[in-house]
Amino acid sequence: MVNKEIVTFVKIYDSIEELAIEDRELVNSAIEAVDRAYAPYSNFQVGASVMLKNGKVLTGTNQENAAYPSGLCAERVALFYANSEYPKVAVETIAITVKNKNGFIEYPVAPCGSCRQVLLESEIRFNQNIRIILVGTKSIQIIENSKQLLPLHFQKNDLNK
Ligand code: THU
Repeated sequence: MVNKEIVTFVKIYDSIEELAIEDRELVNSAIEAVDRAYAPYSNFQVGASVMLKNGKVLTGTNQENAAYPSGLCAERVALFYANSEYPKVAVETIAITVKNKNGFIEYPVAPCGSCRQVLLESEIRFNQNIRIILVGTKSIQIIENSKQLLPLHFQKNDLNK
């Protein structure tokens, strides 16, 4: 038996001002996006903004439904939108933030398991790390790739095993 340790690296910033200009712009587009969420059931409005390798920025917001499981998270809306508009272009970075009934969250929240799975497939499909910027008003976290959020993952090649 071997005990294996799996480590995740997270860069933590106190403010958006500490980020590089292109990251700051991406964060601002996620902040602007939250008001386009359709979240009448949870009042948890999520904005996700993706930077593509061709320089395009696309946003997604969570879309809820009275039949709750029919809704979709902001991250997957943004990624699927990007991959359907630009099927040959890799996503380089995703910025995510949340506004709830108290305003913008102070400390960031990380993507749900299903969104991590979709991030991972996009990363593998284009052989391009996706940087993940999680945004709160008091703290910002940057994770350099989605494998770190889903280290023991299921992927395409596993289907041939
Ligand atoms: N949500 C997201 O958009 N992203 C996540 O990673 C977690 C949850 C949405 C789904 C639902 O509309 C609301 O937040 C509450 O779960």
